[in-house]
Amino acid sequence: MSKEKFTKKILCIGAGYVGGPTMAMIAARCPQYKVTVVDINEEKIKAWESDELPIFEPGLLEVVKEARGRNLFFSTELENNIKESEIIFVSVNTPTKTFGEGAGKSADLQYWEKCARDIRSAAESDKIIVEKSTLPVKTAIAMERILNENEKGLKFEVVSNPEFLAEGTAVKDLENPDRVLIGSKETESGLNARNEIVEIFANWIPHDRLITSNLMSAELSKLVANSFLAQRISSINSISALCEKVDANVSEVSRAIGKDSRIGNKFLHASVGFGGSCFKKDILNLVYLCETFGLYEVAAYWESIVKMNEYQETRFVQTINKALFNTVTNKRIALFGFAFKANTSDTRESPAFYITKKLMEEKAHVVISDPKAIKNAKVDLKDFNNKIEYEIDPYKAAHHAHAIAIITEWELYKELDYEKIYSNMERPAFIFDGRNILDHQKLFEIGFNVYPIGKPHLIHFNES
Ligand code: UDX
Ligand code: ADP
Repeated sequence: MSKEKFTKKILCIGAGYVGGPTMAMIAARCPQYKVTVVDINEEKIKAWESDELPIFEPGLLEVVKEARGRNLFFSTELENNIKESEIIFVSVNTPTKTFGEGAGKSADLQYWEKCARDIRSAAESDKIIVEKSTLPVKTAIAMERILNENEKGLKFEVVSNPEFLAEGTAVKDLENPDRVLIGSKETESGLNARNEIVEIFANWIPHDRLITSNLMSAELSKLVANSFLAQRISSINSISALCEKVDANVSEVSRAIGKDSRIGNKFLHASVGFGGSCFKKDILNLVYLCETFGLYEVAAYWESIVKMNEYQETRFVQTINKALFNTVTNKRIALFGFAFKANTSDTRESPAFYITKKLMEEKAHVVISDPKAIKNAKVDLKDFNNKIEYEIDPYKAAHHAHAIAIITEWELYKELDYEKIYSNMERPAFIFDGRNILDHQKLFEIGFNVYPIGKPHLIHFNES
């Protein structure tokens, strides 16, 4: 198929965890479209063009390879690509603001606004702009105003198409999503733009999963979906603390309540805490929005979910400290996992960061092991780097350790030879299973003192 024959020219600004996989899937499923992904980060673009993609995501390389060079292109050149495209997805980062009004809660929109201005100055024809990044409600309207304040007589229509993919399962989620949400203004031009975007996804997704709404509902739904998911985790984590006090087992409680079809069994795994680039950021965005409208009780309700998560992380470190006779100073502690969940190299907002920091403050000798995330961990922990040891091999990480803490639920940690690990550890040897993935009884029989989340501790001596 020659380039002239492409029926749509799509551009995506931002080649990160969202933009890269989403565009790769569109290109793979729609060979009739030309899809270009641009980023200001040259190194990232080079990586997307190679076999060493900038993010680890199971199955992604195959999808990229299917389309790359055929109808999927990566570039750092913005201006001409803007000119050439009819549809522009914007998928740049929207971190939480660290300064000024709304600091710590609202989204920092400077990258988004810069994109809007770049598009406006380069464009020579009307375009549909698709919000992919998670943004505060009403951003689309603000951006449309900026874009349409142009002297070229150009018309821009902004559509919201929030991304619901989860990392580690991005390819599966994009291939077979529960739903795709497309929000637009309900004017004639808004509805036309909406239909253009629906048409893209209809190439491989059944129509009943393509949901449309007004702009604000689409923007709000993303924040609410993530807040509801996080709320379930904080709810079960709060119960895990109680389980430890009353000798209940949080997995049994999860199973029992999850069988109720009204509750459902997903997102009920108690853990060391939720991480990732979305949950905390989106809840705080929602909190800020509520505060802006004077809905203080609503804001406080949602903010408590973040506080419960922080409590769970703190509780985990306190359990380690208390179990190790109230001092971790100079003790070798092996953290198994640094990624915020399994099957990703992403460490954004990982509980591992907080746990490492707290252990370092107590002058512990921390050894970090992770099959994919060590590179990112080193960046996150650059302030401590000369004091932290990184060891990809979990057996070596645990050698002479006083304790192991499971932070990420990587499959490989379930399959290790814990007898061998135990034989090389200091005594008494401790294991803190922050993900409840191990066979606790077996570990206890090997000789470990075992501290799961939300389950009775299995220890070989009397706990004071
Ligand atoms: C989330 C949403 O799931 C996705 O729809 C949205 O687009 C982006 O945010 P992601 O952050 O990639 O995706 O991962 P997710 O699987 O939701 O896990 C988030 C965190 O919650 C992880 O740290 C995970 O380990 C933790 N988690 C998840 C639990 O602690 N318990 C659970 O039962 C489920
Ligand atoms: P997400 O998880 O939302 O995809 P990432 O941080 O992984 O977020 O990706 C966002 C990407 O957007 C980064 O690679 C960043 O370099 C890129 N980016 C930010 N601003 C611009 C811009 N003005 N033009 C092009 N790319 C940008």
